[in-house]
Amino acid sequence: MKGIILAGGKGSRLFPLTKITNKHLLPIYDQPMIYYPIQALVESGVRDILIVTGGSYAGDFLQLLGTGRQLGIDNLSYTYQEGEGGIADALRLAEHFSDGQKVCVILGDNIIEGTIKDAVTEFEKQPAGAKILLKEVHDPERFGVAEILNNHVVNIVEKPTEPKSNYAVTGIYMYDNSVFDKIKTLEPSSRGELEITDVNNAYIRERNLSYSFLEGWWTDAGTFDSLLRASTLVSDSRKKPA
Ligand code: G1P
Repeated sequence: MKGIILAGGKGSRLFPLTKITNKHLLPIYDQPMIYYPIQALVESGVRDILIVTGGSYAGDFLQLLGTGRQLGIDNLSYTYQEGEGGIADALRLAEHFSDGQKVCVILGDNIIEGTIKDAVTEFEKQPAGAKILLKEVHDPERFGVAEILNNHVVNIVEKPTEPKSNYAVTGIYMYDNSVFDKIKTLEPSSRGELEITDVNNAYIRERNLSYSFLEGWWTDAGTFDSLLRASTLVSDSRKKPA
């Protein structure tokens, strides 16, 4: 399975921190943000990785990561997203890199305490379709929210005002290669972006979306509060006795 880290976007919710750098290069406690999704993939055995970035500071990723070998990556590729087309638009750029294989996609601002190893192993065995990772949260209206009926995800709503559950769809997604054909059928949402939630709902319509729950804490880091929370969570876990 190949790994894709989406690290584009303007980071406008973190302005002015993102005025002179890319959001994913900001510090989370003792490491740049982008290290965490890389470590999650590498630790789960996914070591052929593409970083999709954009904007004025894309070159800084190359300077920071180089070949990626010091972080345990076997093969690191980079590509460039023009404009702000959304998460699914960024993923579209990975079609050539994916080379017909399954992919594990992580949003570059998603930070986890635990491991995705088991989910990756389960998805390797899944004949086709997609797999998402869910996490129970107190503020589901900030995320894509899964509605679950009889142990199946039957619908996902992006940032609902009246969430049907407390289960946030985390920014860790596994797809078979049909994801790229699905993206080609998408229309931009009301915020003018190709939404990853629409991709996931396409798999639900095919009855081919599995899910599991993420163990340990999970946070995004795209707002001032979540950026601070991410650093605190990492700092606390570094100090935990092994
Ligand atoms: C994105 C997705 C959302 C998901 C979240 C996880 O939202 O659109 O479905 O729950 O990432 O971090 P964004 O943070 O880009 O608004």
